[in-house]
Amino acid sequence: MDGRPIGVFDSGLGGLTVVRQLLRRLPGENIVYFGDTGRVPYGNRSRKILHKYARQDCSFLRSKGVKLIIAACGTVSSVVPRVLEEQPVPAFGVVKPAAAAAVRATRSGRIGVLGTSATIHAGAFRRCLLQLNPQVQVFEKECPLFVALVENGWIGREDEVTRLTARRYLEPLREQGVDTLILGCTHFPLLTDIIADIMGGGVTLIDSGQAAADACVERLAQDNTFAPPGNSGRCHFYVSDQPEGFSKIAGMFLGQAIGEHLHTVDLELPAPMAGEDDETG
Ligand code: DGL
Repeated sequence: MDGRPIGVFDSGLGGLTVVRQLLRRLPGENIVYFGDTGRVPYGNRSRKILHKYARQDCSFLRSKGVKLIIAACGTVSSVVPRVLEEQPVPAFGVVKPAAAAAVRATRSGRIGVLGTSATIHAGAFRRCLLQLNPQVQVFEKECPLFVALVENGWIGREDEVTRLTARRYLEPLREQGVDTLILGCTHFPLLTDIIADIMGGGVTLIDSGQAAADACVERLAQDNTFAPPGNSGRCHFYVSDQPEGFSKIAGMFLGQAIGEHLHTVDLELPAPMAGEDDETG
């Protein structure tokens, strides 16, 4: 048993797709979430910058005494996975869990991958899918505008601008006849309704956030590090800028107000080490 929190980070709101699943599946776990809203988007950054951001994000979460880190960010998971391997606590991203779920789901072997530009150029999903099953065919599409649409809260099923953008991005993949589509950026599951409408009922959508949450449950079981029974999980959210916008959309998405548990941090300043504040338990 291990009562320390699970750490989750992303460039902004996308990683909440992991948090939402963790809250459902592991209500007894404490969670610390960091959304780098001051530096979003990550998806068009260079490897060098992403390396720096990912290291800072992980070190901030470690300063909160986390037992495990989830890079709930397809971009970090694809471009700088080494940063995760270097962590002194278990740490993983979304690529392997989502690729494994896609390989299990596909019947035709035609798998689509949506991601940020950096993710698609890194090719990590493609490599991982082909490693798991060399027979599959992979069709990739970078969808950078989706991140901005989500961060601005344009996530309603009827939103015309989002629908139009999605049609433009998704049409080629529909024509390729994929039967499984990985939402390889954690922001994209917030647009599931629109993506599903355009792709049609025959296409299985793989939510990379959900896949990472499943991998987390497996890892805690394997290491016997679930929170002690009877623990009522607490969730603390940290952002690097614009807490109001984050709070509004996060509250809508998670179905609960997060205002009093939301804090703003500056990652350029040295973080206090675990135990120097008592917010996360
Ligand atoms: N949600 C992140 C991802 O999964 C980052 C998106 C971005 O900031 O561009 O790639």
